[in-house]
Amino acid sequence: MSALAHKQILLVISGGIAAYKALELIRRLRDQGAAVRCILTRGGAQFVTPLAVGALSENKVYQDLWSLTDEQEMGHIRLVREADLIIVAPASANLIAKLAHGLADNLASTALLAAQKPILLAPAMNGAMWSNAATQANIATLRARGLHQVGPDDGSMACGETGTGRMAEVPAIIAAATTLLEPKGRLRGLHAIVTSGPTQEPIDPVRYIGNRSSGKQGHAIAAALAAEGAQVTLVSGPTALPAPDHVHLVSVQTAQEMRAACNAALPAAVFIGCAAVADWHVVNAGATKLKKDNGAPQLVLAPNPDIVATIAAGQQRPELVIGFAAETGNLATQATAKLQRKGCDWLLANDVSNGQVFGDDDNEILFLTRDKTGVVNSTAWPRQSKTAVAAQLAAAIALHFKKSS
Ligand code: C5P
Repeated sequence: MSALAHKQILLVISGGIAAYKALELIRRLRDQGAAVRCILTRGGAQFVTPLAVGALSENKVYQDLWSLTDEQEMGHIRLVREADLIIVAPASANLIAKLAHGLADNLASTALLAAQKPILLAPAMNGAMWSNAATQANIATLRARGLHQVGPDDGSMACGETGTGRMAEVPAIIAAATTLLEPKGRLRGLHAIVTSGPTQEPIDPVRYIGNRSSGKQGHAIAAALAAEGAQVTLVSGPTALPAPDHVHLVSVQTAQEMRAACNAALPAAVFIGCAAVADWHVVNAGATKLKKDNGAPQLVLAPNPDIVATIAAGQQRPELVIGFAAETGNLATQATAKLQRKGCDWLLANDVSNGQVFGDDDNEILFLTRDKTGVVNSTAWPRQSKTAVAAQLAAAIALHFKKSS
């Protein structure tokens, strides 16, 4: 899969004859599976029309900083915030100068000033403009600030002169964008499925059986794996937490929905069942709100599927299946039995007596591993934040895959 797949690219097209190549760039970015939004400057619109840019990107074209409707729909801050990468092609001498000096006098320069995402510049201009000390100083400033650059190339230019200033060809821009978006980290290329949060089992349209899981640990694990470059599917019950960056969130409510979403996300190299899945669902849930005048309802419960156990026993079993166990005593014994019963490779156990852990920011883990011969080893991790637990688990997973590769 291309590193550009499912990525949001913001393409800034500034004024220069090379703007015609930006049309081709939009096509090729989309061929790789990227979504493209474009800002077309006033200069850019002298060379390509908003109609062509809009038709090729299949998106609205943003041109005016002072457009009330644009700002309400998709302000310049959102445009850059939602982008994974910003490409400026062509990057004119004027726009490069504005960027170097922090000017914000049109939509393109304002958006670029607000950007906290990687920026790839594809400069294009006459050779004398490119070699001018001012332009060279400006580009050096931008490079020192961490902006990326592709081109310009040598050759004949639209003005009839030859020299350095031609915009890089589209394949070179695509290659540079791909390199910038390629995942980095020890888990790059691995798909991980993480379950998180509680499940809710409806009693009727307004009531449910739930539990106290906050989702903090599962979400932290998803974030830690993504930070290590893994492709992460986070299957989560209802929580108050935002989706971590670079994680594909699938929101579910019930245990059965969670199992279906996990199965649909397979295959994966790692499965981590961190969710507090309800053990039962209500068979005779009301289709309409149960009325208290009718007396206390007799709820009939039936067991939910054990997601970790079915994934561990399934045909598409991930190489590492990791479960959690919240226990209220005899931690090591209970956890070892659970590890074996569920067919997990690893298990993270914690003591939830006295109301600990659920909703807390800290966690104290007994980490159990089972080798191929069935021997279980345990290590007590220190009490630490759930974020630190997640980082420690991600490091252990990275070590496992390093050894097995
Ligand atoms: O049996 P218990 O609920 O204590 O097991 C906890 C572990 O099993 C956790 O990893 C949890 O996500 C998982 N689990 C599951 N499906 C269930 C119940 C628990 O995946 N129905």
